[in-house]
Amino acid sequence: MNPTELIIKKRDGKKLSKVEIHFFLTEYLRGNISDYQMSAMLMAIILIGMDFDETYWLTQEYIESGKVIKFENTNSRFIDKHSTGGVGDKVSIVLAPIAAECGISVPMISGKGLGHTGGTLDKLESIPGFQTQISLNRFKELVLQNGFAVISQSEEIVPADRRIYALRDVTGTVESIPLMTASIMSKKIASGIDGLIIDLKVGNGAFIRDMDTAKKLAESLSKIGAKFDKKVKILFTNMDSPLGTCVGNSLEIIECIEFLKGNYDEDLKEVTFALLAEMLIMAGIIENNNQAEKMIIQTIKSGKALQRFAKFVELQGGNPDIVNNYSIFGEAKYSLSIIAETEGYVKDINSREIGWAMIDVGAGRKVLTDKIDYTSGLKLSKKVGDYVKKDEVLGKLFYNNGKGEMVAERIKKSYLFCTEQIQEKSKILGRY
Ligand code: URA
Repeated sequence: MNPTELIIKKRDGKKLSKVEIHFFLTEYLRGNISDYQMSAMLMAIILIGMDFDETYWLTQEYIESGKVIKFENTNSRFIDKHSTGGVGDKVSIVLAPIAAECGISVPMISGKGLGHTGGTLDKLESIPGFQTQISLNRFKELVLQNGFAVISQSEEIVPADRRIYALRDVTGTVESIPLMTASIMSKKIASGIDGLIIDLKVGNGAFIRDMDTAKKLAESLSKIGAKFDKKVKILFTNMDSPLGTCVGNSLEIIECIEFLKGNYDEDLKEVTFALLAEMLIMAGIIENNNQAEKMIIQTIKSGKALQRFAKFVELQGGNPDIVNNYSIFGEAKYSLSIIAETEGYVKDINSREIGWAMIDVGAGRKVLTDKIDYTSGLKLSKKVGDYVKKDEVLGKLFYNNGKGEMVAERIKKSYLFCTEQIQEKSKILGRY
């Protein structure tokens, strides 16, 4: 088989066979198909799409590119949560210790930043010493010992997603239903879970911008889940403006620690609690959202979720003292306040713009080999619905390169104002 012929076949709108998908993936992983050929194939898939069979075969290839974890001789309920990607989306990091404290085992295989969105792994790696590349045996031990652990795709587990995810990040090839389905479901199926809750983000800062496309992705994710005998529940959540108050790696971890201390941003709380409620219901631990809320608040108030988070950091090589001493993260050399030029109610904060602006200050990658600047980022003081007076501070930018002024301007322009008070809207847009 010739890889170029297969790229042309997909480009021209034809269906690839199981054998052809197998050939393309395995030869890519063996180094016989180059990154530029894979990038061309990914772009063809973005533009043409794949039908259900192709998506299923692709997911299978991703899973079979590595090992599949099995948790044996245990009565634990293995349920994970995954997000389709957003700006300021730190939900996994606060949710996992709470879920573990409530009795769910969460074996989480996550990703780095993708396109304009941040990645759970990059955020966690901003903790000095924290390791996301650990052996599968150790990963299993950690999940059983502390209730949750977070690792990266590796040569051992979903290596196909590890390589292709990194390519998609820098080649504009994220927004595809079959590629997102294979990437998300392969990681989750390989991690040995029984069930999965998906936070399907919709809006200008998400990869999926409208509800019609969101429903198609939800159908694809849930049909693939069913093929592999996994329960899948999906929440559609709004990603028009950044989630929480911080965007950028170490700043987001600090926000997570504050959340686990009970200092919640309301939007982050709403999304996190709704996803946790679905996990607890799926695990059979509680029956409804009211019970979930009580249990979650109690778990946070007791301090046990924070303790579990600190233990998790320590077990994965990081410094657990970060929960009480934020100076361990280090600080960006420069900061700039972003000042409002008009007054009014904040109508919108274009989170896609904020996401790309953060990449300009090094909080994400432009090319495969870029190193992340963990301390750069943005702290928002004004969010959608807030009233802002002229010359008030909208937010503060932290950075280490020479792009501060330009990025601050970009952030300022991402704010949209109006004169009328805004009706508060739920971040939860629906369920599937
Ligand atoms: N998250 C993933 O793991 N993969 C995608 O393709 C998008 C979000």
